[in-house]
Amino acid sequence: MGKTILTYGTFDLFHIGHLKILQNAKKYGDKLIVGISTDEFNKEKGKKTIIPFEQRKEIVENIKCVDIVIEENSWEQKIEDIKKYSVDIFIMGDDWKNEFDNLKDYCEVKYLSRTKGISSTQLKSVLNRVSVSKNELLQAFDILERLKQDFA
Ligand code: CTP
Repeated sequence: MGKTILTYGTFDLFHIGHLKILQNAKKYGDKLIVGISTDEFNKEKGKKTIIPFEQRKEIVENIKCVDIVIEENSWEQKIEDIKKYSVDIFIMGDDWKNEFDNLKDYCEVKYLSRTKGISSTQLKSVLNRVSVSKNELLQAFDILERLKQDFA
């Protein structure tokens, strides 16, 4: 019988680390279910996303190895989802190592190694730095404008 895999995540600013974990997770079974954190749930977690839920969902739904996408609204839903979809293996990146060991009563639990050197947080900080330099540019234009007036 084919195995069903379940994983969760926010998948903001979808990047290669996201693709790799989904592809690696799929290697352990035949059906891959991905829970995507809603914008409201992210707020609860103190996480601010750039890409809205509907778009994050649409992107993940269109990844070849993904079979079903569901909403993640709460910390508590995992056991219900495992039962509802008859999940065999629950998989997360090893940034969550041991965090979900309580689910071992319901299915196998695996933590896969993360792709080094990339995360949504890191991409967001790059975007922030770009917007800071945009501000600096505007300030520079202001100074230039004043200088032009002084010398006119
Ligand atoms: N992931 C991964 N390798 C990365 C980044 C993420 O394997 N470099 C995995 C996580 O371990 C998780 C899934 O991708 O199982 C979704 O993670 P998510 O938290 O949405 O992505 P991050 O880039 O880690 O986001 P953040 O920086 O906001 O934590």
